[in-house]
Amino acid sequence: MTSTGPGTVLITGPTRNLGRHATLALAERGADLLLVGRAGPDLTAVAREARARGARVREIDCDLSRLAAVRAAAATVRDLLAAGTVRPLRALVANAGAMSVDTRRASADGYEMTFAVNYLAHAQLIGDLLGSFTAPARVVLVGSNTYSANVWRRLLRVPEARWADPVELAHPADGDTNPGMTESGIAYSNAKLAILYFAHELQRHAGAKVNVSVFEPGWMPGTALGRGAPAAFQAIGRALGHLPGVSTPQRSGPLLAAIAVDEKWAHLRDGAFVVKTKPTEVQFVAHDRDRERRLWAATAELLERARAAL
Ligand SMILES: NC(=O)c1ccc[n+]([C@@H]2O[C@H](COP(=O)([O-])OP(=O)(O)OC[C@H]3O[C@@H](n4cnc5c(N)ncnc54)[C@H](OP(=O)(O)O)[C@@H]3O)[C@@H](O)[C@H]2O)c1
Repeated sequence: MTSTGPGTVLITGPTRNLGRHATLALAERGADLLLVGRAGPDLTAVAREARARGARVREIDCDLSRLAAVRAAAATVRDLLAAGTVRPLRALVANAGAMSVDTRRASADGYEMTFAVNYLAHAQLIGDLLGSFTAPARVVLVGSNTYSANVWRRLLRVPEARWADPVELAHPADGDTNPGMTESGIAYSNAKLAILYFAHELQRHAGAKVNVSVFEPGWMPGTALGRGAPAAFQAIGRALGHLPGVSTPQRSGPLLAAIAVDEKWAHLRDGAFVVKTKPTEVQFVAHDRDRERRLWAATAELLERARAAL
């Protein structure tokens, strides 16, 4: 990172695939690690593997679909930093993601699950820790190109984002039947577009101390992101995984770790979007000051509503 070293790096979703490989690569780069994930054998296993690579590791139990758990995780991190038990916080990698196959499904706070886990939980965590970084620090969010359509995604029937007011996006679907995979894909793309808008607005609020960027790992078929999808859907994904240009968590995980700590990427800020190793201009739709301001305000409203409901 700099002459002071990588210090402490917090990563969400370290238990499998992209997050797991990023975690192991961070351990090899000498970072202390705060692993924020659901407690269980997977979290224990990745912590053990990271320690075997020489990292000092803390496991922080957190179900990102419960904002109270996210606030508690942030409080734990602040306590560790205040006590000097871990080195200064130099990077936060918001990697965890989910694609709920039923958009009627709600988080513990009553928000649509995909929006809640991918976006709202990270907005809460980052907001709660913004004052806890030691400069120069980085926030790396994990985005996805699915926010906009192209020829390939149209052929594969991957839906692009269909933006609406964030309060509406946070609202689970109504009705007796599951709206289906297209709606599920739209919710995922909306959450990833929200991440881009958030990254741009976050940089305006974070100032010079923290650099904000967004990493796109490339398509990695066969990860657990599609769990719960019909078996045929998952099988097609696995079959397409053999196409050239398709990535894997083993390949993209270390690239994510590099964005978080390597000197080479120290200049990235303003929500710079990096596809694997390639800084890429986002589509026109992903730069919208009005939507970004509205998302910021609506997010504060949604997070406060969840806090007040306790
Ligand atoms: N796969 C792709 O093609 C692709 C493409 C572009 C972007 N991405 C993005 O890359 C990131 C990683 O994706 P992946 O493919 O590695 O997915 P994955 O295999 O499903 O891993 C997702 C990670 O997020 C964690 N997670 C999900 N819900 C959680 C919750 N409620 N509380 C705590 N942790 C939770 C999982 O923890 P558990 O082990 O506890 O479930 C797991 O560690 C995501 O942000 C995804 O959107 C993926």
